[in-house]
Amino acid sequence: MKAWTIPQFGIEHLALADRPEPTPGPGQVVVRVRAASLNFRDLMMVQGHYDPRLVMGRVPCSDGAGEVAAIGSGVTTLKVGDRVIGSFFQNWLDGPINSSKTRGALGGDVDGMLQQFALLSEAAVVKAPAGWSFAQAATLPCAALTAFNALHGGLPGAGPAGAAIAPGDTILVQGTGGVSIFALQLAKAAGARVILTSSSDDKLAKAKAFGADGLINYKSTPDWHKPARDLSGGGPDLVVEVGGAGTLGKSISAVRTGGTIALIGVLAGIKGEVDTVSLLMRSITVRGINVGSVAMLRQLVRAMEASNSRPIIDREFPFSAASEAMNYMKSGAHFGKVVITVD
Ligand SMILES: NC(=O)c1ccc[n+]([C@@H]2O[C@H](COP(=O)([O-])OP(=O)(O)OC[C@H]3O[C@@H](n4cnc5c(N)ncnc54)[C@H](OP(=O)(O)O)[C@@H]3O)[C@@H](O)[C@H]2O)c1
Repeated sequence: MKAWTIPQFGIEHLALADRPEPTPGPGQVVVRVRAASLNFRDLMMVQGHYDPRLVMGRVPCSDGAGEVAAIGSGVTTLKVGDRVIGSFFQNWLDGPINSSKTRGALGGDVDGMLQQFALLSEAAVVKAPAGWSFAQAATLPCAALTAFNALHGGLPGAGPAGAAIAPGDTILVQGTGGVSIFALQLAKAAGARVILTSSSDDKLAKAKAFGADGLINYKSTPDWHKPARDLSGGGPDLVVEVGGAGTLGKSISAVRTGGTIALIGVLAGIKGEVDTVSLLMRSITVRGINVGSVAMLRQLVRAMEASNSRPIIDREFPFSAASEAMNYMKSGAHFGKVVITVD
């Protein structure tokens, strides 16, 4: 079978390798991958910015969908032909996060989905939403689940993804990448208002068409936290923070007193100073998000089916054009998700 691998860091070094088809052991399944979707993490992984100690030869990409091609002994919940998606974390099945559950992440600790056949744990494979294409299903494991966790995973003890936002809340979403557009869709489905920032007026117009209520160009309005406060009558209840160090200060200024910042990304920097006084004086909760569990992924699938909404795919690339797809994503031209079909 064919697999894209990382023999050395750099998108230009991605290599198409011949690998033996995997055989499932007890409790494992082999998935014939039909589509993989890209996340910013995959770019960082391939470029050596995520894990400098990554094992060379790793197959990239956490996200993929396909059909079950073979099952190992003891597998009872899946059968050959089932349309499925793999969970980002193969070992975080349920309950609160801990350090052992986050070992075994696809496309990092273990081989990912940018290959024709993937060996996965039965317990960490979820049936794809009914009626969805493989490309659509492949967008859920990382970006969508992260957005879902940010919006709905906030209350301990309220099930795998207890509600963190309520209908009528205002959510601030930064940019128009994969996580952010899912956050927009999920927030609208939950009856929330959404303020969205982007560097592009064209993308803001698109976001409006998908339901964004308030629009701010963060390039032409560098002090975007001010209109964000005005548009939300005193500050959003929740900020979906994907910029990281470069945006956190303004997110702290924007969010309402008593509000929450879901800290997700590092698009605008990793390290920086934090206004600790504002955090404590205004009782702001900063909640670190690390994707989500298999149980949350199952709940996300149910939520997407119930809301009838579909992922927004900007562009699909063929398997042979994996490097081109990564460079396209790196350019930041996309709105929503970038998918690679696996033939
Ligand atoms: N913690 C987790 O579990 C988790 C899970 C998934 C992703 N992440 C992280 O979340 C971030 C987003 O991931 P992704 O896959 O959605 O990335 P992506 O699709 O590549 O998002 C890129 C978009 O982000 C926007 N952006 C860039 N810099 C920005 C800034 N300074 N302010 C506001 N928006 C900015 C831009 O939108 P415009 O073009 O509209 O300006 C850009 O097109 C990454 O840092 C990723 O590592 C973390």
